[in-house]
Amino acid sequence: EGRGGEAERCFERHLSSLVDSPHLDVGTPPTTVSNMSSGQQSYSAPLELAFPEDLISPEVLKALPSELTMRPLASDDYKRGHLDVLSVLTVVNDPGAAAWTSQFHAMRAMPRTYFSLVIVDKKSDRIVGVGSLFVERKFLRGLGSVGHIEDIAVDKSQQGKKLGQRIIQALTYISENSGCYKTILNCSDSNVPFYEKCGFARKENEMAKYA
Ligand code: ACO
Repeated sequence: EGRGGEAERCFERHLSSLVDSPHLDVGTPPTTVSNMSSGQQSYSAPLELAFPEDLISPEVLKALPSELTMRPLASDDYKRGHLDVLSVLTVVNDPGAAAWTSQFHAMRAMPRTYFSLVIVDKKSDRIVGVGSLFVERKFLRGLGSVGHIEDIAVDKSQQGKKLGQRIIQALTYISENSGCYKTILNCSDSNVPFYEKCGFARKENEMAKYA
């Protein structure tokens, strides 16, 4: 039997692992804030989440300070300061709640592709940390996938408390559980030591061309 047979089996294994994956379940019922945070009924409407909540690493959840929790981005997180936290990273032009929500739904309509998560202060119900993973499907490596970590930011008042590290651990967990053969990111020189502490190593160069 030639290499073609082996490649075909590899491809079939990959496909069946995707089909069998519990992570394909994008129809997880919405969750209320009350059963994800302090137990207080602070908000009764269901949260519409960007991806299934059980993709958040249990170890990361356990390691967070008790006043904080981590969950997928929700359709009404605009009002919880999502863009305020992102603006710690770079210029954010506020598009307004309606356009933000359209973008949320456009991303959510592509299941198993966009994974944006947030760290929320349970008491204030404000977002204090954000991060995203984009899963890129490929033709190479037996139709493999690559996880791209993007847009990591921790509110200034919360930096230095390992929240950045928890976000990276959570996104890497999702990447590896999505079958990605590698997880990559771009960062400034000044953030290299942070990512090295998260277990990443320098590899090749970033090229950019702005429009
Ligand atoms: N230089 C050296 N060490 C660092 C740095 C740094 N710039 N940042 C964090 N560390 C170290 C910490 O001291 C800590 O070390 P320790 O384990 O020995 O105690 C370890 O890295 C983990 O740090 P955290 O406490 O998890 O870092 P924090 O929660 O502050 O988050 C982050 C780091 C995300 C870079 C935050 O400072 C931030 O939001 N910065 C502004 C936005 C930004 O630059 N985001 C990253 C862009 S790159 C991208 O998005 C892919």
